[in-house]
Formats: sequence, C-alpha cells, structure tokens
Amino acid sequence: MEILVEKDYKNMSKKAAFLIREAIKEKPDLILGLATGSTPIGTYEELIRMHKEEGLDFSKVTTFNLDEYYGLSPEDSQSYRYFMEDTLFKHINIKKENTHVPDGLVKEPNEYGKIYDKMIEEQGGIDIQILGIGRNGHIAFNEPDDELILSTHLTGLTEDTIEANSRFFDSIDKVPTTAITMGLGTIMKAKKIILMANGKNKTEIMGELLKGEKVSTKLPASLLLLHPDVTIIMDEEAAELYKK
Ligand code: F6R
Repeated sequence: MEILVEKDYKNMSKKAAFLIREAIKEKPDLILGLATGSTPIGTYEELIRMHKEEGLDFSKVTTFNLDEYYGLSPEDSQSYRYFMEDTLFKHINIKKENTHVPDGLVKEPNEYGKIYDKMIEEQGGIDIQILGIGRNGHIAFNEPDDELILSTHLTGLTEDTIEANSRFFDSIDKVPTTAITMGLGTIMKAKKIILMANGKNKTEIMGELLKGEKVSTKLPASLLLLHPDVTIIMDEEAAELYKK
C-alpha cells in the first residue's frame, strides 16, 4: 500500500488526476471505476482541465460507477447518473455508451447486480477504481456489518450515511434509504485502487484504518489492506492522526 499525504484538497485531487492521466496515456481504452460524493469532484475538475487544455482523450475509456440510489431515475437531479453527467461526462469526450452507472430503477436489483459485475468482467475488469470513504469506514455503500456481500447488490444505508448525504438534499427525509452498490468482491477485483480522503471529518476513520492492524467487516475499507495495489491519497487534515 502506498500512502501519499498532500498539502490540501487541491493537491490531493491533482495527484489522483495525474495518476489517471498517466494510466490513460499508457492504456487509452482504460476501464475506470468511478465514485460520486464530494471527494472526487476536484479530481474530475482536473481531468476536465487536462482534457480541455492538454487534449487528454477519453474516447476509448470505459467507466463503471460504484453505486446509485435505488428508486431514482437517471434524470433525477439527485441521482448519481445525473451527478456524473454534470460533474464529468458532459465536459469530456467520453462516449455515453461507455459510461455505466447502476440503474436505480431495476425491478430485481440483486439479479441486475450480477449482470453489472458480468459486464465489468467482460470488459476485462476495472484497471483503476477510484474510492472515497465514509466517516464510518464504508466504501461504495458497503456499510459496516457482520457480513459484507461480494457482488453488486441492493443495500440499506446506515443512519450515519443518510445524515452525511442529507447535505445534498432539501431535507433528510428526502434521502433514499437504499442503494445499489458494487460489493467488496467487485471492488477488490480492480487491478489498482486509489482511495482519497480529505478534511477533518475523515481524520478519525483514516487514523483507524491506517493503524493497519486488522481487517474487519465493521470497517469495510480495512479489506483494502489485503489488496496488492492500493494508493491512498489524503490531504493533511485527513492524515492528522496517521502522522502521529
Ligand atoms: C460514492 C460512494 C461513497 C462515498 C463516501 C464518501 O459513490 O460510493 O462511498 O465515496 O460516502 O463521500 P464524500 O466524498 O461525499 O465524503
């Protein structure tokens, strides 16, 4: 595991975008796993800049997003499909048919999850998976639990996650309580994983995770300690306890 501490959010974002750019240059048909939330927004901005100013070419890149709220249509402005279009896809030359976000409207989400995983496999697997981390240690929407499901599946969100995500909604009761998420097995199959964390509300969880003493399903991100190629990029605030 490689651990990088950058001065601030901007530098963390630039570093992640730099790693993605180098990977696309090496493999123009990169299979990229993407996340939503606040953490990767700066990385997406930097990738857009690289596309516009340096001609970084996304025309052969394929993407798979980690998750989607269950019950929201792609047109819903709170959906993760909408977020991805708005924050990244519409600003770069990626082909719409090469972008995948789980479909929040499917009738059989667990069956659909298996199809989603198969699609990833048929593309040759994810080359780089971008991850944020919940302050409770979740990755994608794999919440702390006694057991963690391996494949893409329907899951309930914890109160902590609903509360954390309510900042994007008019009120907390509008936050969906279920989501379709890649499972730990799907995530762990990615060839390389880049986890980003920034700000004070991630300090505690990053301190806990980077003690690196044990893996636990109660801290889903700790399973990443078993992955052969993980790069963690943090800003100084998130790294405060790690450095102590
Ligand atoms: C988003 C996702 C979540 C977020 C996590 C952190 O697709 O899968 O696990 O990465 O909740 O969210 P932010 O970045 O908003 O702090």
